[in-house]
Amino acid sequence: MQGNFKYHNPTKLYFGEESLKYLKDELENFGERVLLNYGSGSVKRNGIYDEVVAILREGGKTLIENPGVMSNPTLEKLHEGVRIARENKVDWILALGGGSVCDYSKGVAASVFFDGDYWQEFWLDGNQPAKEQQVLPVGCILTMAGTGSEMNGGCVITDAAKSFKTGHVFDSRLMPKFAILNPRYTMTVPIEQMKAGIYDIMNHIFEQYFSDFDDNTSDYISEGLMRSLIVASREAVKDPQNYEARSNIMWTATWALNTLIKCGKSEDWMVHMIGHSLGAWTHAPHGYCLAACSMAYYRRAMEYGRPKFERFARNVWGVNTAEEGLEALKNWMLEIGLPLTITEIGATPEMIDDIVSTTVIFPAGYLDLKPGDIKQILKESL
Ligand code: NZQ
Ligand code: ZN
Repeated sequence: MQGNFKYHNPTKLYFGEESLKYLKDELENFGERVLLNYGSGSVKRNGIYDEVVAILREGGKTLIENPGVMSNPTLEKLHEGVRIARENKVDWILALGGGSVCDYSKGVAASVFFDGDYWQEFWLDGNQPAKEQQVLPVGCILTMAGTGSEMNGGCVITDAAKSFKTGHVFDSRLMPKFAILNPRYTMTVPIEQMKAGIYDIMNHIFEQYFSDFDDNTSDYISEGLMRSLIVASREAVKDPQNYEARSNIMWTATWALNTLIKCGKSEDWMVHMIGHSLGAWTHAPHGYCLAACSMAYYRRAMEYGRPKFERFARNVWGVNTAEEGLEALKNWMLEIGLPLTITEIGATPEMIDDIVSTTVIFPAGYLDLKPGDIKQILKESL
């Protein structure tokens, strides 16, 4: 293992079809006034909202509701949430939804007690809340698998006015105190969102796997997660109501980005950086943005990281060469119906310069990219 690291993940998980029953016990750990954040209506249509609200009311909580957290939450919505939380003096936040609602809740939780421009401080300057600054506790009831937000400190916000999407990884104070994961909840997720979530999971693993050449336990764990995801995704696409497949996808999503598989790794988040910029300009689902630029990116990375790509070919796909490994990845993406070009997600050649200009670039993995390289990757992805 390379480097020195601390491993500490404070999120308590409840998993399975009966996991919501533990919400009642958790309520004892938090104050009376809860800010309930949720999205644009799915939780009302599928009945999860009613179940959760009944438990909160029975537990004597006062609910302050903040609906309408959109997919890829905006800075404007963040301001609204902070205002609501301040005006109502909430004690804690419950996120009910997918990664967007969970991310957003952390953003509000971090900002409520920050006296100043929290967007500049946390997202643009990348600082953590000061030790003496209070943050609100966040709980999460997850309804969609993909981001890993239920067990990490990530919080991605879009400044829609500037078409700029950027994330901040908060320290462990902002990681959910608990997360309830019921795979049944994910069964009403639209099929396109399910596929986007599946590729998001795969790409989180890639971002932590395709770096370094040492023999590292983290990479073996990653390979196991990838293999499980490949099997489960094929089943879920054939039969979205397959509980075994959906539960494996949900559990894989959590472990793909909950701080475990990055241990001892240098990491490479550039597909995500390009994907975030694509998302800000096209508004396509996050996982689709990643899929659409991945093949061009990994063809380039393979030239510099060949031994790792050969290992990927052998240990994940059971083929021999690096090229065959990427071909197997492409075929899997085609098989489950993911976009392989940025044209499919609505990007045009005219948008490329703008997308490049809002892509955050840093040296990562096997590549040290310049804006011209990002432009070339995007052109090859058309
Ligand atoms: O808004 P509602 O009506 O709830 O509909 C949502 C939304 O339209 C719907 N949905 C969720 N659960 C459902 C459901 N529909 C029916 N039944 C259910 N059970 O699905 C749509 C997408 O939801 P969203 O939360 O936006 O998806 P996802 O979980 O993929 O989250 C995407 C956001 O997370 C960020 C992304 O950038 C994006 O902003 N990320 C967060 C990360 C992190 N915290 O570490 C890392 C990721 O790389 C990612 O960047
Ligand atoms: Zn992602």
